[in-house]
Amino acid sequence: MEIINSQPSVFTDNAAESRRVKRSPLPVVVLISGRGSNLRALIHSQQQQNPPNIEIRAVISNRPDAAGLQFAREQGVPTTVVDHTEFPDRISYDHELIREIDQHQPQLIVLAGFMRILSADFVHHYHGRLLNIHPSLLPRFRGLDTHQQALDTSAREHGASVHYVTEELDGGPVLIQARVPVLDGDDADTLASRVLTEEHKLYPEAIRLIADGRVKMVDDTLLFDQTPMNEPLELGNYS
Ligand code: GRF
Repeated sequence: MEIINSQPSVFTDNAAESRRVKRSPLPVVVLISGRGSNLRALIHSQQQQNPPNIEIRAVISNRPDAAGLQFAREQGVPTTVVDHTEFPDRISYDHELIREIDQHQPQLIVLAGFMRILSADFVHHYHGRLLNIHPSLLPRFRGLDTHQQALDTSAREHGASVHYVTEELDGGPVLIQARVPVLDGDDADTLASRVLTEEHKLYPEAIRLIADGRVKMVDDTLLFDQTPMNEPLELGNYS
């Protein structure tokens, strides 16, 4: 399925031209569970765009105590809690989450530290519209404790990836990555902090590329400026 941004007034195949075409901001819902530093980076980035390329219609958390909720409220972004402890099973929770998200009619759902395994129903419902950031250079180090995994395997390079979500855990098509070196003396905390600094640039940039219509997923294939991508973009390494 293709992400359909609010349509530009003029259709063109020319990438540079299509970037100049005026678009409505892409409606986005962000899902969080905790700290919310990526949400914060996204809101800051959006506030610096004039005109804004996205409209964050809601921030939804599965945990009432998620620190990111408070920041969103302070910035005037509507927030909702759909508390997973109030549901008997994953599927009933995910259906309620879908109902809540869809009220906002987003064209992109952004997972920003949303610490839940998602049901197949949920993933299918948002196929081509569901984005995640993962703290490793996928396909390396899926799952949890990615920084420790990098240290345990003596990786010399580490980083973060933004990918569309499919049923395979951390396995969907990767659209963009940021790399950092692993330095002598690093522990999981120093490495995590170096990666997080990059995440805060990477996620807003990934979402900007989608909002500008430069990256889209069509039938599980990623396109960049209408051309199929053979490998992920590298942050700061394309025009
Ligand atoms: C980030 O490291 C992100 O890559 C991972 O979860 C963490 C969320 O951090 N998916 P924050 O809540 O955005 O600060």
